Amino acid sequence: MNSLEGKVIVMTGGAGGIGEATARLAHAEGASVVITDREAGPVTAIAESLGERALGLAVDVTRREDNERMVAAAVDQFGRLDGAFLNAGIEGQVGPFDSRTDAHWQQVFDVNVHGVRLGAEAAIPALRKAGGGSIVITSSVAGLRGAAGLSPYVSSKHAVVGMMRCLAAELGPDGIRVNTLNPGPVDNRMMRSIEDQANPGHGDEIHAMFASRIPLGRYVTNEECAAMAVMLLSDAAGGCNGNTYLVDGGYCAQ
Ligand SMILES: NC(=O)c1ccc[n+]([C@@H]2O[C@H](COP(=O)([O-])OP(=O)(O)OC[C@H]3O[C@@H](n4cnc5c(N)ncnc54)[C@H](O)[C@@H]3O)[C@@H](O)[C@H]2O)c1
Repeated sequence: MNSLEGKVIVMTGGAGGIGEATARLAHAEGASVVITDREAGPVTAIAESLGERALGLAVDVTRREDNERMVAAAVDQFGRLDGAFLNAGIEGQVGPFDSRTDAHWQQVFDVNVHGVRLGAEAAIPALRKAGGGSIVITSSVAGLRGAAGLSPYVSSKHAVVGMMRCLAAELGPDGIRVNTLNPGPVDNRMMRSIEDQANPGHGDEIHAMFASRIPLGRYVTNEECAAMAVMLLSDAAGGCNGNTYLVDGGYCAQ
């Protein structure tokens, strides 16, 4: 049997990268998926390419009503909610700690922290109604370690690890498991943005420097992250609650 057969899952940040890969794998594993992102176009196209059991929806995670609409769509279309993959995030700008504006800190925390909070708040009543489920929050190795030049992002990714631990403690008795996915550098748009900001015009040098610090010698892929997210959303992870799950090629082992 497929690992997510019969399950209904909502996802944020699903227009590309880790989110799209997870939507596609979750669907292939039998789930009905509500795939969301800031704009309807890309997620609607992904949902249409999947066919039945897939719906694309515009959701800005910083808006409470959007998160509630996402969960309502899952229940209306597919009858229940079993899982939430709270994955939307922004990298923000790269630069020294004391050069970041108030507005910049606010923006990164609005999406990366409050977006996750609002997604969890919207999902919890429906997950309770279903008798339990799984929430997977995309943090990062930046949620476990510091990194020069990325202070708002790193701080926000640490914050959701704390949020996950509180949620796991509170929701465990209801059968709702909560964990974080913590990818290392992923070979995708977000890392290319960070590389290009860190060394404009020479992002490939930053890429090579990061890759040399990873025991596998390369970035991980969207699909490798998706495999972990889908496992955590499935009953195979029935004993997993309140923990951080690294997909980092060994980056944090050293
Ligand atoms: N790329 C990496 O190396 C890496 C490493 C560790 C963790 N992550 C995390 O993985 C998650 C997915 O990122 P990705 O690597 O796939 O990059 P990505 O930029 O392709 O995906 C992030 C998605 O979030 C969406 N988003 C941003 N603001 C939003 C908002 N207000 N409402 C709804 N959606 C919004 C974007 O449109 C985008 O589709 C993020 O939380 C990111 O921080 C990425």
